[in-house]
Amino acid sequence: MNNSLEGKVCVVTGSARSIGLGVAKRYAQLGATVGMIDINKDVTAEAYKLKAAGSDAKGYVLDITDRDAVLNCFKEIEKDLGPVFALVNNAGIVDTRPMEDVTPDIMDKVMRVNVHGTLYCCQGAAASMKQLKDGRIINFSSKSGKTGSALMSAYSASKGAVIALTHSLAFELAPHNIKVNCLCPGITDATGVWESVSAGYVETMNLSQEEIIRKFTAKIPLSRLTAIEDLLDFIEFLTVSGGYCTGQAFNVTGGREVH
Ligand SMILES: NC(=O)c1ccc[n+]([C@@H]2O[C@H](COP(=O)([O-])OP(=O)(O)OC[C@H]3O[C@@H](n4cnc5c(N)ncnc54)[C@H](O)[C@@H]3O)[C@@H](O)[C@H]2O)c1
Repeated sequence: MNNSLEGKVCVVTGSARSIGLGVAKRYAQLGATVGMIDINKDVTAEAYKLKAAGSDAKGYVLDITDRDAVLNCFKEIEKDLGPVFALVNNAGIVDTRPMEDVTPDIMDKVMRVNVHGTLYCCQGAAASMKQLKDGRIINFSSKSGKTGSALMSAYSASKGAVIALTHSLAFELAPHNIKVNCLCPGITDATGVWESVSAGYVETMNLSQEEIIRKFTAKIPLSRLTAIEDLLDFIEFLTVSGGYCTGQAFNVTGGREVH
């Protein structure tokens, strides 16, 4: 086992399942103390499983759109686990529908989780990172944040905002040696977002699930969907070293997105 994150507290939002749970497990393998946040209370059971397997992990049930609750939760994490070194803002929601059907409530909901929630968690973690004079923030945008996707206007707008937020925080936090970057994954297999998006496409495009997968894979130069492992490898690099990178929006799309 590589213990490159031993003694470091790493927090992952949306870690009850899918990509976020994968990140929490990867951090645990690297020896980190892992703070797991999710609105879904299953996060507590997932943290117990990691603890039972010998890792240091604690789950926190939290709605990241509630700013006061977020700031209190980060204070609690600091008290329970220690100052936060890394934050992965993975929690997010998707919405698929024709643009004419996007109501103010839908727009608000998507922006509040994907943008406001991301900012509030950065606010909660920055105090620790400033104290450490070291830190990593990894936000989750999407390929749709660079090139918007049809039938996903609210989601694409929110993920574009995450890229701008990442630039802004990278400039603001650089004097504290805090690196802020974001990932722009392509369609990622075995995840909640893809399950929901593909179900939407089955309905709106009148194609089967297999036809949808073939249609989207055909547009990817490396000829397969993104795997959760592809993202974990990148997050490991950005957390352990990060090199000389801040303010970047990295594509993990098999060549589908190139800018
Ligand atoms: N899956 C993909 O194809 C894909 C592609 C590009 C980007 N992304 C981004 O990656 C991230 C993870 O995607 P996923 O497919 O693993 O998602 P998912 O739906 O499987 O999991 C998201 C998690 O976030 C949690 N969450 C949602 N709202 C929350 C809130 N208000 N407070 C706290 N937790 C909340 C959910 O409970 C869930 O456990 C998202 O930000 C998504 O936009 C995903």
